[in-house]
Amino acid sequence: MSAGALLRTLVGERAVLACLGASAPSAVPAAVAARAMPARCPPAALPIWLLVAGHDVDAPAATRALGVALAPLAAAGLVIERDGMLHATAAVVAIGGGVMVFDRLDATGVDRVPWPDDSSFHLARSLPARPIGAWLDVGTGAAIAPLTTGPRGARVRATDLNLVALARAAEGVALSGRPDVELAAADLFDGAGGGWDLVTFNAPMPADDPHAPATTWHRSPPGAALIERFWDAAADHLAPGGEVIAHTAIAADPWLAHAGRAGTWTIARYTPAAERGFAITRWRPDAAPARELVEVPLGRGRPYVTRSDLG
Ligand SMILES: C[S@@+](CC[C@H](N)C(=O)[O-])C[C@H]1O[C@@H](n2cnc3c(N)ncnc32)[C@H](O)[C@@H]1O
Repeated sequence: MSAGALLRTLVGERAVLACLGASAPSAVPAAVAARAMPARCPPAALPIWLLVAGHDVDAPAATRALGVALAPLAAAGLVIERDGMLHATAAVVAIGGGVMVFDRLDATGVDRVPWPDDSSFHLARSLPARPIGAWLDVGTGAAIAPLTTGPRGARVRATDLNLVALARAAEGVALSGRPDVELAAADLFDGAGGGWDLVTFNAPMPADDPHAPATTWHRSPPGAALIERFWDAAADHLAPGGEVIAHTAIAADPWLAHAGRAGTWTIARYTPAAERGFAITRWRPDAAPARELVEVPLGRGRPYVTRSDLG
C-alpha cells in the first residue's frame, strides 16, 4: 500500500471524526480543544492524535502505527522525532480522495494556513460528479477542492496569491500522489489563459465589518470588490459550454451584482434570508438566460450545499 493510501485510512475523515467525536471536518478544532488524549491511547488512534490533534506521541508506538506513511512525512519535515517522541509540525488529514496539509491547529498569526471551514465543503460538494476536463481552482489555499475531489480533471491548475498556502498545497499534492495538480502563484486569473471547462473560487471570508448592517449585507457585502473582479473576468477564461462555481458572501438582493451578465445563473443560498448571506453560485455563460435563487435549508444530515441544489 502506498503512503498516501495508508494515510487515507489512518487519518481518514471517518476515523478522525469518530476518534475526536467531531460531527464534521470543520468541528475538529473545537473537538480537539474539548478533549484530552487518552493516557492509554489505542495504537490506531496515535496517528490522529499526532497528525490532526497535534499531540506529541511515543515514537516507537507511533512509528509502528504509521508504518510506511512515516517516511514521506519525515522527509517533508512534517513529523520530527525529539526526546523519544514524534512531533507534527503541521496538521495532516485525509478528506475525500486526498491527503491535505494545514498549519497546526494551535498555530497563530495572520499568515497561517487554517484548518478548513464549511465553505470549503460547500464548494467541493457542488462540483460536477462527471469527469471535469480542464479545471482552474482560483484561491485554492491548501488545494482542498482538487485534493478532496480526487483525480477527476484531465488538467487541474490550482492558484493562490498566498505563497505559504501554496507550500502547504504542494505538501498535500505530494502526499496524495497527485502530480496532475499544477500549482501556481497568481492574482485571480493572471497567467491562466482560456479554455477552462470549470472555474472554481471559494472567495475569502469578508472580515467582520463594524459598519455593515447588523443582519444583512444590503447592496454589497464586504470583500465585494474582489468577488466582482472575479465575476467580471471569469467568462473570458472558460471553454465553450464551461461553468463557474463560487462560494461567496452575497447581498440581500444577490442579482444586483450580476446585472447585465448573460447565461444561466443559480444561486444556492444556505443562510436564512434574515441573516448575512452566503451562497454557492453556479454560472453557465453560454446557456440560455435564466436566473434562479434556491434556498437550501441546512440541518442535521444536510450539512452542505450539494450539486443537486444547483439544478
Ligand atoms: C476562503 S480561502 C479558500 C481556500 C480553499 N480554496 C478552500 O476552499 O478552503 C480564500 C483563498 O483565496 C486566496 N486569495 C485571496 N485573494 C486572492 C486573489 N486576489 N487571487 C488569488 N487568490 C486569492 C486566499 O489566499 C485564500 O487562500
